[in-house]
Amino acid sequence: MTKSQRHLTDPVPRLEHHSLEQIENIWFGIAAVMSFLLFMSAFASFISGTYPGLNGASGHHLAGVVNGRLDPKLLAATPFAKPGLHQNPDGSLDVFVVTRAFQFEPAVLHVPAGKPLTFYVTSADVLHGYSVDGTNINVTSVPGQVASFTTTFRHAGTYNTVCNEYCGIGHHNMVTRMIVDPPQ
Ligand code: CUA
Repeated sequence: MTKSQRHLTDPVPRLEHHSLEQIENIWFGIAAVMSFLLFMSAFASFISGTYPGLNGASGHHLAGVVNGRLDPKLLAATPFAKPGLHQNPDGSLDVFVVTRAFQFEPAVLHVPAGKPLTFYVTSADVLHGYSVDGTNINVTSVPGQVASFTTTFRHAGTYNTVCNEYCGIGHHNMVTRMIVDPPQ
């Protein structure tokens, strides 16, 4: 038997005390740096005033929408009366989507690729979801409120759109398509 072979009865070799301490110190250092960065980013956003708005101001410039709120029974008095793609006088594009048990309006949404689109989503009745497969679009559609986001589709194609909040007996049928047309 050579010297390097170990017997079962040999004591387990112990790690060097000092090398363990070094590893612990490195971990502690990483944690300290992360805590500092997190604190500084929170502090910086507080100072600069870029923390998330709590005043529900989304869509405040839309007719019939006040402080991001609207009456779900009076959608006819808002741009949601004509769901779909709208072009503003300055050329920017808005998209209005209404969720309603158990369908999306417009039934099939056509939008252009390569252009910034500002979506406004609201519900005509109960809570629904608006989730576009293969993208990070996933908003909750709340009656009386306007959800808004801006996105640009880089690729033309057909995107399945589903309701991902249980909204009633037809929830599973609440599926539609968004067709992103190639840029002209
Ligand atoms: Cu609408 Cu689920």
